[in-house]
Amino acid sequence: MNSDTHVSNRWSSRYAYVLAATGAAVGLGNIWKFPYIMGENGGGAFVFVYLLCVLFIGIPIMMAEVVIGKRGRSTPANAVALVAKESGHSSHWSIIGSMGVLAGFLILSFYIVIAGWAAAYVFYAGSGEFSAAAADPATNAEVIGNLFGDLVSSIPKLLAWTTITMAAVIYVISKGVKGGLETAVTYLMPALFILLVGIMLYSAVVGDFAAAFSFMFDIDFSKLTIEGVLVALGHAFFTLSLASGVMMVYGAYLPEGVSIAKTSIMIAIADTVVALIAGLAIYPIVFAHGLEPSAGPGLLFQSLPIAFGSMPMGDFFGTLFFIMILFAAFTSAIALLEASAAYLEERQKLSRVKAAIIAGVVIWIFSLGTVFSLAGTEWAQINFGFMGDNIFAMFDYLTTNILMPLGGLLISIFAGWVMKSDVVKKEFNLAQWQFTLVMVLLRYIAPLGILFVFANSVGILDFIKQST
Ligand code: PHE
Repeated sequence: MNSDTHVSNRWSSRYAYVLAATGAAVGLGNIWKFPYIMGENGGGAFVFVYLLCVLFIGIPIMMAEVVIGKRGRSTPANAVALVAKESGHSSHWSIIGSMGVLAGFLILSFYIVIAGWAAAYVFYAGSGEFSAAAADPATNAEVIGNLFGDLVSSIPKLLAWTTITMAAVIYVISKGVKGGLETAVTYLMPALFILLVGIMLYSAVVGDFAAAFSFMFDIDFSKLTIEGVLVALGHAFFTLSLASGVMMVYGAYLPEGVSIAKTSIMIAIADTVVALIAGLAIYPIVFAHGLEPSAGPGLLFQSLPIAFGSMPMGDFFGTLFFIMILFAAFTSAIALLEASAAYLEERQKLSRVKAAIIAGVVIWIFSLGTVFSLAGTEWAQINFGFMGDNIFAMFDYLTTNILMPLGGLLISIFAGWVMKSDVVKKEFNLAQWQFTLVMVLLRYIAPLGILFVFANSVGILDFIKQST
């Protein structure tokens, strides 16, 4: 193996790795995205399919990515190429790594804009907007709705918040991922969790918890479309930070002797629990105030501020909550920029600071597509057919519903069929039956599952049925 492509960075411990990877996984995907896509896709049946995808497809693919990163000890494209060569196969498999880095790059271009919303909301909560809106219960939901509408339709505001947030992410990456991040994650992740549980309990008391619970857990397949199944599959990848270069890069920094299976399961459980709690915190408010579950990307920002407005010390808790969301988004954005920056650093031999700034600035330029889409500017409203009708919708669709599942398909095939099985076995270090189980998932269940969803959602199966 080529030694100058190797990374020498390591997480300081198993604990540091789990925290950083959980920080990457838990983010806007759990608190902002999951609740609204669940609302758009019919609730319980969507949740059910999403859980199946996490369990049978997401966890094994996360394990595969970490093994590839660790075995290759370099950034995604090189790691895959090295591992492929080691198993006697073509280094063209590196396309898997490059595709992931591209997906991560595009994701960060819209993710950073939404993180900017969270930053704006720290400020709104702190300046008492929520409690002021709650002064008149008759207009509360409307005033909160307008607050959100004003933010997303204002180009200067969106630009300002996006730019500040991106600058902060670039700063952290230019300093290197470890150090400060590890300590911050240690305290803030548990704090976010406790706060979220507190808000859920409060929502349960003041909102319509029964309606929320049955919306999320009553499984009615007639409400789920095949498109919804694809969204659930794509979200499993998005929320676990898979097929985006991130888990391969974090795997490359993994110290020896850490159980990849155990840590992957822990990360997936923490991530899923946060998403479900976020849903249970938001939906009681949505139903009690007659908001629409299918309200789209604004759902979180139009529902929880109503709860904070009426809560004792609501401005304080609201501020705290949005600080934590911002932080959760931040640890994910950092992981995403790390994937692009490490790639430039290694491939173009740039210094870390230069790599962070160049990757960050290019992503910031791409983020303008989302800013102008939201604000309704004409040039960003392009009809991309089934991928949506503006740049933001298209980037989201392209990454979550196409690039990530496709990347996941290739990763599972690579780890299941291309890599030498004794290498995989040695790295997983599992009991025989456990190893067999993981391999069945990687070889058959994950690839066939992904292909099945793809084939159905693009109508290939209909086509075959019709022509036979
Ligand atoms: N998993 C993150 C979230 O749910 C988003 C993300 C995707 C982060 C891909 C890194 C890579 O918010």
